[in-house]
Amino acid sequence: MKIVIVYGNGRRGSTYNCVQIIKRTIEQYGDVRFEEIWLPKDLPELCCGCFNCILRGEQFCPHSDYVSPIVSSIIEADGIIMASPAYGLDVSGAMKTLIDHLCFMWMPHRPHNEMFSKVGFVVSTAAGSGMKRVNKTMKLALNYMGFKRIYDFGSAVAASRWEDVKESKKLTIEKRLIKKSQKYYQSLVNRKKLKSRLSTKVIFRAMRTMISGYQDGNIDKEYWKSMGWFNNTKPV
Ligand SMILES: Cc1cc2nc3c(=O)[nH]c(=O)nc-3n(C[C@H](O)[C@H](O)[C@H](O)COP(=O)(O)O)c2cc1C
Repeated sequence: MKIVIVYGNGRRGSTYNCVQIIKRTIEQYGDVRFEEIWLPKDLPELCCGCFNCILRGEQFCPHSDYVSPIVSSIIEADGIIMASPAYGLDVSGAMKTLIDHLCFMWMPHRPHNEMFSKVGFVVSTAAGSGMKRVNKTMKLALNYMGFKRIYDFGSAVAASRWEDVKESKKLTIEKRLIKKSQKYYQSLVNRKKLKSRLSTKVIFRAMRTMISGYQDGNIDKEYWKSMGWFNNTKPV
C-alpha cells in the first residue's frame, strides 16, 4: 500500500508530529510505503492564473515540472494525507498553492478516474482556532477530485512549538489520532469495495449535465467523452 503525505509547511512541528502518529499507527497494520511531499519546497511557484491547465491541458502549466510528479504520486497511491497548520484561520499559503494547481482535475474539469477510489486524511493544528476551516479547505479539494472517503483530525495545541505542547495534550492527541488512523487504514484496505458517497454522485451528475452542454472540441467535454461518462459509464 502506498500513501502520499503532503506537508503544508516545512517545519517538523506540531502538524508534522501528528502525522508521525498516523504513520506509526498504520505501519503496525501492514506493509505501507509512505512518500512525502514537502511544501513549498516541492512546489515553490504560485499559480499565476494563466488558465493553461484548464483551457489547454495540464502539460501547459508553466510549473508542470513541479506539479506533474506530485499528480503522478497521488494517482499511484492508495491514499493521501494532507497536513497543514492554521495560518490566518485557513491552510498555509503553500498548501493553497498546491490546491490551486490541482483545480484542472476537479470534477468541473477533468477529474482522474483513479481519484474516485482513493481515501484521504486531512490533518491540522492551530494555536487556538482555525483547524475546522483548514480541514474544510483541504477536504473540499479532495471532494472535488472525487475522493471516496475523507477523514479529518484537528487539534488546538496552545503552542508555537511541539516541544511546548503540554504532555496531557499530546496524550489526548495521540489517543484520538490512533482511533482515526485505524479507521483510515480499514478504509484504505477496503477502498475499492466502499460505496461512493451521495455528494460525489450529485456533483458528478451536475457536472455531466453542465459539460455535455459545452461545444464539441472543448477540452473538458472531449475528456468526459473519451471516458465514456456521457454514456452511463461511471468513474471507478
Ligand atoms: C503566519 C501564522 C499564522 C497563524 N495563524 C493562526 C491562526 O489563525 N489561528 C491559530 O490558532 N494559530 C495560528 N498560528 C499558529 C499555528 O497554527 C500553530 O502554532 C500550529 O500548531 C503550528 O504548526 P506547526 O508546528 O506544524 O508549524 C499561526 C502561525 C503562523 C506562523
